[in-house]
Amino acid sequence: MKKQQITEEMKQSPLHQLFLEEIKDIYWAENHLLKALPKMAEASTSTELRKAFEGHLAVTQTHVERLKKVFESLDEKPETKTCEALKGLIREANEIIDDTEDGTMVRDCGLILAAQKVEHYEIATYGTLRTLAAIMGHTEVQALLQATLDEEHSADDELTQVAMSFVNEEAMSEK
Ligand SMILES: [Fe+2]
Repeated sequence: MKKQQITEEMKQSPLHQLFLEEIKDIYWAENHLLKALPKMAEASTSTELRKAFEGHLAVTQTHVERLKKVFESLDEKPETKTCEALKGLIREANEIIDDTEDGTMVRDCGLILAAQKVEHYEIATYGTLRTLAAIMGHTEVQALLQATLDEEHSADDELTQVAMSFVNEEAMSEK
């Protein structure tokens, strides 16, 4: 693939600047998730959910690495910008842990809810950024973002699977 030349003029474009700010935002979010996911895995009741979180932790590491490549492809240094939305979603996940009993399926139900909010935030972000990369001709960046977007969709589907296969049902019968 022929590498796109990032010119100074391109860097000055307001859309490019907005794009870059949002890349920094999701870079912060993915790094923050590396710290949050082990906590969510540990708080899980079922082995299935714990494994889903552990699996997504490994995938998240890949997302961080891909974003480093995105910065490189844009001729920028990796930089973070606090993502207030993700910060809030993680706070919500922690509240759910505090508000539910250890060892219950209601806990898992709440953790899945919190994690799917995170996934949907990421899907929205990567979906838009992938499309912007495409219109700006950042082909390499577009492919990197698409790969992560596909994995976020898979993670979301896996969580739905865990919820629907037994967690919701068992949570309903807890007293
Ligand atoms: Fe991710």
